[in-house]
Amino acid sequence: MDGALHSRRILVVGRESGIARAITLAVRAQGGQVVVAGRNRDKLARAYDDPGITAEDLDVTDDGSIEAFADRVGHLDHVVSTASARARGTLPELHRQDVLVSLNTKLLGPLMLAKHLAPRMDSHDRSSFVLFSGVHAFKAKVGYLGVGITNGAVDFLTRALAVELAPIRVNAVSPGVIDTGAWDAMGDDGKRQYFHAIGAANPVGRIGTVEDIAQATVFAMTNTFMTGVTLKIDGGEPLA
Ligand SMILES: NC(=O)c1ccc[n+]([C@@H]2O[C@H](COP(=O)([O-])OP(=O)(O)OC[C@H]3O[C@@H](n4cnc5c(N)ncnc54)[C@H](OP(=O)(O)O)[C@@H]3O)[C@@H](O)[C@H]2O)c1
Repeated sequence: MDGALHSRRILVVGRESGIARAITLAVRAQGGQVVVAGRNRDKLARAYDDPGITAEDLDVTDDGSIEAFADRVGHLDHVVSTASARARGTLPELHRQDVLVSLNTKLLGPLMLAKHLAPRMDSHDRSSFVLFSGVHAFKAKVGYLGVGITNGAVDFLTRALAVELAPIRVNAVSPGVIDTGAWDAMGDDGKRQYFHAIGAANPVGRIGTVEDIAQATVFAMTNTFMTGVTLKIDGGEPLA
């Protein structure tokens, strides 16, 4: 299979659905081999029927899990972390523990992945990390304080790692609202109303798709002159 990621080996951390799945399928369409990794290897393995995709156990909040994964995974060209545990709620509703879990998963997880995996990657501009930020890093909104500070810190981590790991590149993707399982707690009616309101206000007139985000992630992996950048794939939401 030829393509921009032909013969490249890519780690995609996250769930078996949503954005991680779309990235996995996009990488395969570009000829790459994928290691999908998360807290439930069996669930991930069942989600794909493709010899080019293998599943691994990995908990990004557990250094022992990361080190054991690094020891057994073999060579990687790109590392994508979509792992997330968001701390939604207004200030009175926020609990320290929820914010700590959010930071531990989405900020410190990729930091420790970089620490343990970068030394095993080829040190050139064709290797990269892609982190995940999010629209609330760029748009202060009541109810999204915990989410926003986590994503804002990921945005800085991206630039800091781009300097420290150079010439390995480090970029991030910042999605706007995308219809994934991330919003299931709102219920079907709640989601429909929220997606309609956000889509109507967005300059592009719609919410995003997982394919919008996967396309940007492949771009981040394959553009060898881009590093330290957070790609805002959010329909212009912060501008509205
Ligand atoms: N969807 C959106 O509208 C949106 C908007 C802005 C930003 N984003 C960001 O885009 C990325 C992907 O979003 P998504 O909506 O597709 O998925 P998501 O619902 O944010 O899923 C993230 C997944 O990370 C996994 N995870 C949590 N803790 C983990 C850990 N300690 N180790 C390994 N994996 C862990 C969980 O999978 P398991 O439950 O299977 O363990 C979880 O389902 C996330 O970083 C998200 O914050 C999404």
